[in-house]
Amino acid sequence: MRVLLAGGAGYIGTHTAVSLLDAGHDVVLLDDLSGTHAVAAERVETITGRAAPLVVGNAADDAVVTAAFDEHGPFDAIIHFAAFKAVGESTQKPLEYYANNLDSTFALLRVGLERGIRSFVFSSTGTVYADPDDLPFTEESTTSVDLSNPYSKSKRMNEVILADVARVNPELNVTVLRYFNPVGAHRSGLIGEDPAGIPNNLMPFVSRVAIGSLERVGIFGDDYDTPDGTGLRDYIHVVDLADGHVAALQKAQPGYAVYNLGTGVPVSVLELVAAFEEAVGRELPKQVLARRPGDVAATYCDPGKARRELGWSTRLGIDDACRDYWHWQQSNPSGYAGA
Ligand code: WQD
Repeated sequence: MRVLLAGGAGYIGTHTAVSLLDAGHDVVLLDDLSGTHAVAAERVETITGRAAPLVVGNAADDAVVTAAFDEHGPFDAIIHFAAFKAVGESTQKPLEYYANNLDSTFALLRVGLERGIRSFVFSSTGTVYADPDDLPFTEESTTSVDLSNPYSKSKRMNEVILADVARVNPELNVTVLRYFNPVGAHRSGLIGEDPAGIPNNLMPFVSRVAIGSLERVGIFGDDYDTPDGTGLRDYIHVVDLADGHVAALQKAQPGYAVYNLGTGVPVSVLELVAAFEEAVGRELPKQVLARRPGDVAATYCDPGKARRELGWSTRLGIDDACRDYWHWQQSNPSGYAGA
Protein backbone atom coordinates (compact mmCIF):
# COMPACT_ATOMS: atom_id res chain seq x y z
CA MET A 1 0.00 0.00 0.00
CA ARG A 2 1.02 3.58 -0.62
CA VAL A 3 0.24 5.70 2.41
CA LEU A 4 0.18 9.44 3.04
CA LEU A 5 1.03 10.22 6.67
CA ALA A 6 -0.27 13.66 7.64
CA GLY A 7 1.75 14.74 10.66
CA GLY A 8 4.14 12.00 9.60
CA ALA A 9 7.30 13.67 10.94
CA GLY A 10 5.98 13.75 14.53
CA TYR A 11 6.47 11.31 17.39
CA ILE A 12 3.84 8.74 16.45
CA GLY A 13 4.03 9.50 12.72
CA THR A 14 7.74 8.67 12.40
CA HIS A 15 7.38 5.42 14.32
CA THR A 16 4.39 4.45 12.18
CA ALA A 17 6.35 5.30 9.03
CA VAL A 18 9.10 2.90 10.15
CA SER A 19 6.57 0.14 10.88
CA LEU A 20 4.85 0.63 7.51
CA LEU A 21 8.16 0.62 5.60
CA ASP A 22 9.36 -2.45 7.50
CA ALA A 23 6.10 -4.18 6.52
CA GLY A 24 6.76 -3.40 2.85
CA HIS A 25 4.45 -0.43 2.36
CA ASP A 26 5.44 2.91 0.81
CA VAL A 27 5.06 6.16 2.71
CA VAL A 28 5.08 9.89 2.12
CA LEU A 29 5.20 12.24 5.10
CA LEU A 30 3.27 15.51 5.07
CA ASP A 31 4.17 17.79 7.95
CA ASP A 32 4.35 21.54 8.58
CA LEU A 33 7.23 20.94 11.03
CA SER A 34 5.49 23.05 13.68
CA GLY A 35 6.15 20.38 16.30
CA THR A 36 9.11 18.51 14.83
CA HIS A 37 12.14 18.76 12.53
CA ALA A 38 12.88 17.64 8.97
CA VAL A 39 15.71 15.49 10.31
CA ALA A 40 13.07 13.17 11.82
CA ALA A 41 12.06 12.12 8.29
CA GLU A 42 15.72 11.54 7.36
CA ARG A 43 16.08 9.31 10.43
CA VAL A 44 13.14 7.19 9.22
CA GLU A 45 15.13 6.60 6.03
CA THR A 46 18.30 5.80 8.00
CA ILE A 47 16.49 3.20 10.11
CA THR A 48 14.66 1.47 7.26
CA GLY A 49 17.00 2.03 4.32
CA ARG A 50 13.95 3.08 2.33
CA ALA A 51 12.64 6.38 1.01
CA ALA A 52 10.34 8.48 3.20
CA PRO A 53 9.81 11.68 1.19
CA LEU A 54 8.78 14.69 3.26
CA VAL A 55 6.34 17.29 1.93
CA VAL A 56 6.52 20.39 4.12
CA GLY A 57 3.13 22.02 4.45
CA ASN A 58 -0.04 22.22 6.47
CA ALA A 59 -2.49 19.34 6.11
CA ALA A 60 -5.36 21.78 6.74
CA ASP A 61 -4.69 23.43 3.38
CA ASP A 62 -6.43 21.75 0.41
CA ALA A 63 -3.78 23.13 -1.97
CA VAL A 64 -0.98 21.52 0.07
CA VAL A 65 -2.74 18.15 0.19
CA THR A 66 -3.53 18.36 -3.53
CA ALA A 67 0.13 19.12 -4.28
CA ALA A 68 1.19 16.09 -2.20
CA PHE A 69 -1.14 13.87 -4.26
CA ASP A 70 0.05 15.44 -7.53
CA GLU A 71 3.70 14.97 -6.69
CA HIS A 72 3.64 11.65 -4.81
CA GLY A 73 0.24 10.02 -5.36
CA PRO A 74 -1.86 8.11 -5.94
CA PHE A 75 -2.32 6.93 -2.36
CA ASP A 76 -4.32 3.96 -1.14
CA ALA A 77 -4.63 5.35 2.35
CA ILE A 78 -4.22 8.41 4.53
CA ILE A 79 -3.25 8.24 8.19
CA HIS A 80 -4.07 11.50 9.93
CA PHE A 81 -1.77 12.36 12.86
CA ALA A 82 -1.62 16.11 12.16
CA ALA A 83 -3.05 17.87 15.20
CA PHE A 84 -2.33 20.20 18.08
CA LYS A 85 -2.18 17.97 21.15
CA ALA A 86 -1.48 19.91 24.37
CA VAL A 87 -4.49 19.49 26.63
CA GLY A 88 -3.70 22.51 28.85
CA GLU A 89 -2.88 24.81 25.94
CA SER A 90 -6.15 23.85 24.23
CA THR A 91 -8.15 25.42 27.05
CA GLN A 92 -6.32 28.73 26.36
CA LYS A 93 -6.48 28.50 22.56
CA PRO A 94 -9.80 26.82 21.76
CA LEU A 95 -10.25 28.43 18.36
CA GLU A 96 -6.79 27.43 17.17
CA TYR A 97 -7.35 23.86 18.36
CA TYR A 98 -10.77 23.44 16.77
CA ALA A 99 -9.68 25.07 13.52
CA ASN A 100 -6.45 23.11 13.12
CA ASN A 101 -7.74 19.76 14.34
CA LEU A 102 -10.90 19.87 12.21
CA ASP A 103 -9.69 21.70 9.07
CA SER A 104 -6.93 19.12 8.60
CA THR A 105 -9.51 16.33 8.53
CA PHE A 106 -11.70 18.26 6.09
CA ALA A 107 -8.85 18.99 3.67
CA LEU A 108 -7.48 15.43 3.80
CA LEU A 109 -10.93 13.92 3.25
CA ARG A 110 -11.95 16.32 0.49
CA VAL A 111 -8.81 15.71 -1.52
CA GLY A 112 -8.46 12.05 -0.53
CA LEU A 113 -12.00 11.14 -1.56
CA GLU A 114 -11.67 13.01 -4.83
CA ARG A 115 -8.46 11.09 -5.55
CA GLY A 116 -9.94 7.71 -4.64
CA ILE A 117 -8.30 6.69 -1.36
CA ARG A 118 -9.63 3.44 0.08
CA SER A 119 -8.71 3.89 3.74
CA PHE A 120 -8.57 6.74 6.24
CA VAL A 121 -7.07 6.13 9.67
CA PHE A 122 -7.55 8.73 12.37
CA SER A 123 -5.46 9.33 15.53
CA SER A 124 -7.92 9.66 18.36
CA THR A 125 -7.52 9.45 22.09
CA GLY A 126 -8.63 7.49 25.13
CA THR A 127 -9.71 10.84 26.60
CA VAL A 128 -12.97 10.73 24.57
CA TYR A 129 -14.45 8.38 27.19
CA ALA A 130 -16.82 10.31 29.41
CA ASP A 131 -17.33 8.19 32.53
CA PRO A 132 -14.05 7.85 34.49
CA ASP A 133 -15.46 4.97 36.53
CA ASP A 134 -16.24 2.77 33.53
CA LEU A 135 -12.87 0.97 33.64
CA PRO A 136 -11.39 -0.63 31.69
CA PHE A 137 -12.72 1.40 28.76
CA THR A 138 -14.08 -0.65 25.89
CA GLU A 139 -15.08 0.84 22.55
CA GLU A 140 -18.67 0.57 23.83
CA SER A 141 -17.96 2.79 26.85
CA THR A 142 -19.80 6.10 26.86
CA THR A 143 -18.15 8.89 24.90
CA SER A 144 -19.06 12.55 24.80
CA VAL A 145 -18.25 15.77 22.98
CA ASP A 146 -18.84 17.44 26.32
CA LEU A 147 -15.32 16.74 27.62
CA SER A 148 -13.08 18.78 29.91
CA ASN A 149 -10.92 20.44 27.24
CA PRO A 150 -11.02 21.54 23.57
CA TYR A 151 -8.27 19.08 22.55
CA SER A 152 -10.34 16.05 23.58
CA LYS A 153 -13.53 17.63 22.23
CA SER A 154 -11.88 18.24 18.86
CA LYS A 155 -10.91 14.56 18.71
CA ARG A 156 -14.42 13.38 19.52
CA MET A 157 -15.89 15.84 16.99
CA ASN A 158 -13.60 14.34 14.36
CA GLU A 159 -14.89 10.87 15.19
CA VAL A 160 -18.51 11.99 14.77
CA ILE A 161 -17.70 13.63 11.45
CA LEU A 162 -15.83 10.56 10.23
CA ALA A 163 -18.76 8.28 11.04
CA ASP A 164 -21.02 10.47 8.89
CA VAL A 165 -18.52 10.56 6.04
CA ALA A 166 -18.17 6.76 6.20
CA ARG A 167 -21.96 6.37 5.95
CA VAL A 168 -22.17 8.17 2.60
CA ASN A 169 -18.97 6.60 1.23
CA PRO A 170 -19.72 2.90 1.65
CA GLU A 171 -16.51 1.78 -0.09
CA LEU A 172 -14.28 3.75 2.28
CA ASN A 173 -12.54 2.11 5.25
CA VAL A 174 -12.54 4.54 8.16
CA THR A 175 -10.63 3.44 11.24
CA VAL A 176 -10.46 5.46 14.43
CA LEU A 177 -7.65 4.51 16.80
CA ARG A 178 -8.01 5.67 20.39
CA TYR A 179 -4.54 5.92 21.87
CA PHE A 180 -3.81 5.61 25.54
CA ASN A 181 -0.48 6.99 26.84
CA PRO A 182 2.26 6.61 24.21
CA VAL A 183 5.79 6.26 25.62
CA GLY A 184 9.18 4.90 24.58
CA ALA A 185 11.08 5.31 21.35
CA HIS A 186 12.49 3.25 18.49
CA ARG A 187 15.24 0.86 19.67
CA SER A 188 17.76 2.55 17.40
CA GLY A 189 17.68 5.75 19.46
CA LEU A 190 17.35 7.66 16.17
CA ILE A 191 13.72 8.75 16.53
CA GLY A 192 11.72 9.63 19.60
CA GLU A 193 9.58 12.21 21.30
CA ASP A 194 10.90 15.77 21.14
CA PRO A 195 8.61 18.05 23.13
CA ALA A 196 9.33 21.78 23.02
CA GLY A 197 9.94 23.51 26.35
CA ILE A 198 9.11 21.86 29.66
CA PRO A 199 7.28 18.60 28.98
CA ASN A 200 3.74 18.14 30.31
CA ASN A 201 3.75 14.37 30.15
CA LEU A 202 5.35 12.10 32.67
CA MET A 203 7.98 10.10 30.76
CA PRO A 204 9.52 13.05 28.89
CA PHE A 205 9.63 14.98 32.17
CA VAL A 206 11.36 12.13 34.03
CA SER A 207 13.79 11.75 31.16
CA ARG A 208 14.73 15.46 31.31
CA VAL A 209 15.41 15.06 35.02
CA ALA A 210 17.62 12.06 34.26
CA ILE A 211 19.60 13.98 31.61
CA GLY A 212 19.99 16.87 34.06
CA SER A 213 18.00 19.61 32.33
CA LEU A 214 15.24 19.56 34.97
CA GLU A 215 15.82 19.38 38.69
CA ARG A 216 13.34 16.86 40.05
CA VAL A 217 10.31 14.81 39.17
CA GLY A 218 7.07 16.23 40.59
CA ILE A 219 4.59 13.50 41.49
CA PHE A 220 1.15 15.03 41.00
CA GLY A 221 -0.66 13.65 44.05
CA ASP A 222 -0.17 10.51 46.15
CA ASP A 223 -3.62 10.49 47.73
CA TYR A 224 -5.66 8.99 44.91
CA ASP A 225 -7.78 5.93 45.56
CA THR A 226 -5.24 3.65 43.86
CA PRO A 227 -2.90 0.96 45.27
CA ASP A 228 0.04 3.37 45.89
CA GLY A 229 -1.98 6.60 45.88
CA THR A 230 -0.59 7.86 42.53
CA GLY A 231 -2.40 8.01 39.18
CA LEU A 232 -2.82 4.91 37.03
CA ARG A 233 -2.34 5.08 33.25
CA ASP A 234 -2.14 2.68 30.32
CA TYR A 235 1.36 3.35 28.91
CA ILE A 236 1.80 1.90 25.44
CA HIS A 237 5.20 1.61 23.75
CA VAL A 238 5.14 3.81 20.65
CA VAL A 239 6.45 0.95 18.49
CA ASP A 240 3.49 -1.23 19.54
CA LEU A 241 1.23 1.73 18.84
CA ALA A 242 2.81 2.16 15.40
CA ASP A 243 2.28 -1.53 14.63
CA GLY A 244 -1.39 -1.03 15.49
CA HIS A 245 -1.67 1.30 12.49
CA VAL A 246 -0.16 -1.28 10.16
CA ALA A 247 -2.61 -3.90 11.47
CA ALA A 248 -5.50 -1.45 11.07
CA LEU A 249 -4.60 -0.74 7.44
CA GLN A 250 -4.10 -4.39 6.58
CA LYS A 251 -7.39 -5.49 8.11
CA ALA A 252 -9.45 -2.44 7.15
CA GLN A 253 -12.93 -3.16 5.86
CA PRO A 254 -15.44 -0.76 4.35
CA GLY A 255 -17.30 1.18 7.01
CA TYR A 256 -16.46 2.90 10.29
CA ALA A 257 -14.57 1.06 13.04
CA VAL A 258 -13.07 2.15 16.35
CA TYR A 259 -10.26 0.47 18.29
CA ASN A 260 -8.56 1.17 21.59
CA LEU A 261 -4.78 0.93 21.37
CA GLY A 262 -3.38 0.32 24.82
CA THR A 263 -1.92 -2.49 26.91
CA GLY A 264 -4.84 -2.92 29.29
CA VAL A 265 -2.37 -2.84 32.20
CA PRO A 266 -2.65 0.10 34.61
CA VAL A 267 0.73 1.42 35.81
CA SER A 268 1.15 3.99 38.59
CA VAL A 269 3.28 7.14 38.47
CA LEU A 270 5.62 5.66 41.09
CA GLU A 271 5.95 2.42 39.13
CA LEU A 272 6.78 4.32 35.96
CA VAL A 273 9.38 6.49 37.71
CA ALA A 274 10.93 3.37 39.33
CA ALA A 275 11.14 1.68 35.92
CA PHE A 276 12.87 4.73 34.48
CA GLU A 277 15.32 4.82 37.41
CA GLU A 278 16.09 1.18 36.69
CA ALA A 279 16.82 2.02 33.04
CA VAL A 280 19.05 4.95 34.04
CA GLY A 281 20.77 2.94 36.80
CA ARG A 282 20.30 5.47 39.58
CA GLU A 283 17.67 7.09 41.72
CA LEU A 284 16.22 10.38 40.52
CA PRO A 285 15.29 13.35 42.70
CA LYS A 286 11.53 13.47 43.18
CA GLN A 287 8.95 15.22 45.26
CA VAL A 288 5.25 14.73 45.87
CA LEU A 289 3.24 17.77 44.76
CA ALA A 290 -0.45 18.63 44.76
CA ARG A 291 -2.75 16.91 42.30
CA ARG A 292 -2.73 18.43 38.80
CA PRO A 293 -6.11 19.99 38.04
CA GLY A 294 -8.12 17.97 35.54
CA ASP A 295 -6.30 14.66 36.19
CA VAL A 296 -8.30 11.51 36.85
CA ALA A 297 -7.17 8.79 39.25
CA ALA A 298 -7.06 6.04 36.65
CA THR A 299 -7.54 5.41 32.97
CA TYR A 300 -6.82 2.23 31.04
CA CYS A 301 -8.45 0.27 28.28
CA ASP A 302 -9.57 -3.16 27.29
CA PRO A 303 -7.59 -3.75 24.06
CA GLY A 304 -9.51 -6.98 23.28
CA LYS A 305 -11.32 -5.70 20.21
CA ALA A 306 -8.06 -4.80 18.43
CA ARG A 307 -6.66 -8.22 19.36
CA ARG A 308 -9.71 -10.09 18.05
CA GLU A 309 -10.37 -8.08 14.92
CA LEU A 310 -6.95 -6.74 13.90
CA GLY A 311 -4.83 -9.57 15.28
CA TRP A 312 -2.77 -6.93 17.09
CA SER A 313 -1.53 -6.89 20.64
CA THR A 314 1.28 -5.18 22.49
CA ARG A 315 4.63 -6.92 22.75
CA LEU A 316 6.60 -4.39 24.80
CA GLY A 317 6.28 -3.25 28.40
CA ILE A 318 7.25 -0.20 30.43
CA ASP A 319 10.76 -1.53 31.01
CA ASP A 320 11.31 -1.61 27.25
CA ALA A 321 9.76 1.84 26.94
CA CYS A 322 12.02 3.33 29.62
CA ARG A 323 15.16 1.71 28.15
CA ASP A 324 14.33 2.94 24.66
CA TYR A 325 13.28 6.43 25.75
CA TRP A 326 16.47 6.80 27.74
CA HIS A 327 18.58 5.57 24.82
CA TRP A 328 16.91 8.18 22.54
CA GLN A 329 17.38 10.91 25.17
CA GLN A 330 21.04 10.10 25.71
CA SER A 331 21.75 9.90 21.98
CA ASN A 332 19.89 13.21 21.39
CA PRO A 333 20.24 15.29 24.57
CA SER A 334 18.68 18.34 22.84
CA GLY A 335 16.28 16.35 20.66
CA TYR A 336 16.36 16.83 16.89
CA ALA A 337 17.51 20.45 17.27
CA GLY A 338 20.95 19.18 18.31
CA ALA A 339 21.26 16.99 15.20
C1 WQD B 1 0.41 10.64 33.44
C2 WQD B 1 0.37 10.52 34.94
C3 WQD B 1 -0.09 12.60 36.04
C4 WQD B 1 3.60 14.59 34.76
C5 WQD B 1 -2.76 11.67 28.41
C6 WQD B 1 -1.78 11.84 27.29
C7 WQD B 1 -1.74 13.25 26.83
C8 WQD B 1 -3.10 13.67 26.40
C9 WQD B 1 -4.17 13.26 27.33
C10 WQD B 1 -3.94 12.38 24.54
C11 WQD B 1 -0.76 11.30 35.58
C12 WQD B 1 1.29 12.14 36.37
C13 WQD B 1 2.58 13.69 34.97
C14 WQD B 1 4.43 14.95 35.87
C15 WQD B 1 3.17 13.47 37.27
N1 WQD B 1 -3.31 13.37 25.06
N2 WQD B 1 2.36 13.14 36.19
N3 WQD B 1 4.18 14.37 37.06
O1 WQD B 1 -2.47 13.16 31.82
O2 WQD B 1 -2.73 10.72 31.24
O3 WQD B 1 -2.49 12.54 29.47
O4 WQD B 1 -4.01 11.98 27.88
O5 WQD B 1 -4.72 12.27 23.79
O6 WQD B 1 -0.83 13.45 25.82
O7 WQD B 1 -0.51 11.43 27.68
O8 WQD B 1 -0.55 11.86 30.74
O9 WQD B 1 1.89 11.80 31.03
O10 WQD B 1 0.64 13.95 31.53
O11 WQD B 1 0.38 12.01 33.06
O12 WQD B 1 2.99 12.99 38.38
O13 WQD B 1 5.35 15.77 35.74
O14 WQD B 1 1.59 11.10 35.47
O15 WQD B 1 -0.72 13.19 37.15
O16 WQD B 1 -1.19 10.56 36.70
P1 WQD B 1 -2.13 12.06 30.94
P2 WQD B 1 0.66 12.47 31.53
